[in-house]
Amino acid sequence: MSRERRTWKRIAAAAGTGMMAAALALALSIPAIGLAQTSKRKPNPLAWQIPDGAEKEANPLPQTTANLAAGKKLYVEHCENCHGVEGKGDGPDIDPKNKPDDLTNPKRARANPDGVMFYKIWHGRKKPEMPPMSDTLTKEQTWQVVHFTKAMRRPLPAKKK
Ligand code: HEC
Repeated sequence: MSRERRTWKRIAAAAGTGMMAAALALALSIPAIGLAQTSKRKPNPLAWQIPDGAEKEANPLPQTTANLAAGKKLYVEHCENCHGVEGKGDGPDIDPKNKPDDLTNPKRARANPDGVMFYKIWHGRKKPEMPPMSDTLTKEQTWQVVHFTKAMRRPLPAKKK
């Protein structure tokens, strides 16, 4: 076989697999859409349990020095072992394969308005695991720790002009 014909054969074979892959992706995406819809109706028991409207709940406590200091104390007692001294997710009790998001990352602010953060801490989650604090902390203490956790965030970098 000439070199040219061999090249063509290879191109044709590659195109064939490409088309098969596209068809397969399409076939797979149809049931995937179905699954995404059902999972919306049936919440994943392993994930965060965030009630509707939580993103609109504001912290009822003012961000005072006293609330921040109380929040810091609670963080050191109940969170630091996993989230790390600085909140970077490098505490000794963390599963290195399932490291939590860096609490100091300002980009995580949008995903964690006050109320959402409150319920993440209050209810915890099963996998990757974060223990619920509802057995350990009062609601007031949880809002204090929300204040402290938010205060650990780095400021967003200034926009380039
Ligand atoms: C046993 C370890 C453990 C402890 C203790 C723990 N966490 Fe977590 N936390 C995790 C893990 C794991 C995740 C990431 C879950 C995921 O992947 O979604 C997480 C996620 C979070 C998030 C969400 C971060 C984001 O960007 O979405 C917040 C906020 C948080 N933790 C705060 C706290 C606070 C505050 C405490 C203490 C009151 C605490 N955690 C205690 C393991 C822990």
